[in-house]
Amino acid sequence: MQDFAGKVAVITGAASGIGLALTEKCLDEGMQVVMADIEEQVLDKAAEKLRERGHNSILAVPTDVAVLEQIEALCQKTIDQFGEVHLLFNNAGVGGGGNSWQATNKDWEWVMGVNLFSVIHGLRVFVPQMISQGNSCHIVNTASVAGLLDGVTNASYAVTKHGVVALTEILFRDLGQENVPISCSVLCPGIINTNILTSHRNRPADLTNQQPDPSPSAEQENARSQFAALMQQGMPTSQVADIVFKGIREETLYIQTHDSFNQAILDRAQNITTATNPPLRNLTPDE
Ligand code: NAI
Repeated sequence: MQDFAGKVAVITGAASGIGLALTEKCLDEGMQVVMADIEEQVLDKAAEKLRERGHNSILAVPTDVAVLEQIEALCQKTIDQFGEVHLLFNNAGVGGGGNSWQATNKDWEWVMGVNLFSVIHGLRVFVPQMISQGNSCHIVNTASVAGLLDGVTNASYAVTKHGVVALTEILFRDLGQENVPISCSVLCPGIINTNILTSHRNRPADLTNQQPDPSPSAEQENARSQFAALMQQGMPTSQVADIVFKGIREETLYIQTHDSFNQAILDRAQNITTATNPPLRNLTPDE
């Protein structure tokens, strides 16, 4: 996809962080934008602020991306308002806690729903719409560099992000085999300065554990505040949006923000091919 002006973008997780920066970038490119997010008041405020800056082609749709019917409604509202959709960002995501055996069913269900099922729903609903239009379209699924590495972050987050990478690689093949004018990318950000460390703000009550998590140890608290400080120095979201648009224009499947992780990605591939066990890493909290 090369021409953006006048085209329609749908962005999930658009009220904050990377999604908000992608929204601003789409508007700067002259696009009409549908902003979807579960945090309704923040979403409305963000849309209002952008309208005050003179961007009038914005539709804000409160959406829980984990729920198929809400993604179907998002697509319908997009078509009702703008007629077509050309650029889809399956971006909404949350950081969740727990190691591989301690996370509860509710922990898994929440993170799998927002980070992985959202992308599955997004493809099932929007790809047929794009195919029916017959024009040039692009899909960007947000994974993480955690989807390319071994043993970083926590269990549910890593599983969902590896899942989004795998799903987008299959999507790339399937679209190519169908010979339709739709391309796709998987965005694998490194550390970006966003609000992801407070993801629990959007955790639905029915997926919240009844037993509160045990109080973190001093060591865990310390690791968490160190990581929060690191995130504050992370890449600005506007820079991520520029990198993503370069990737869309060049139709690259893999979009990375930091090349500093490349050696670790190569090490993982080498460990797999030589049956070498990976080194043990310290977990970083949430993200
Ligand atoms: P953020 O917390 O600033 O933005 C995430 C947005 O998703 C928020 O507006 C939130 O309200 C929304 N959201 C959460 N649950 C939702 C649901 N059920 N339905 C609809 N919207 C929902 O975080 P950030 O960092 O901008 O996250 C965007 C994506 O980037 C996520 O997929 C995340 O995993 C990914 N990512 C972020 C990295 C970082 O360092 N910040 C690194 C790697 C990946």
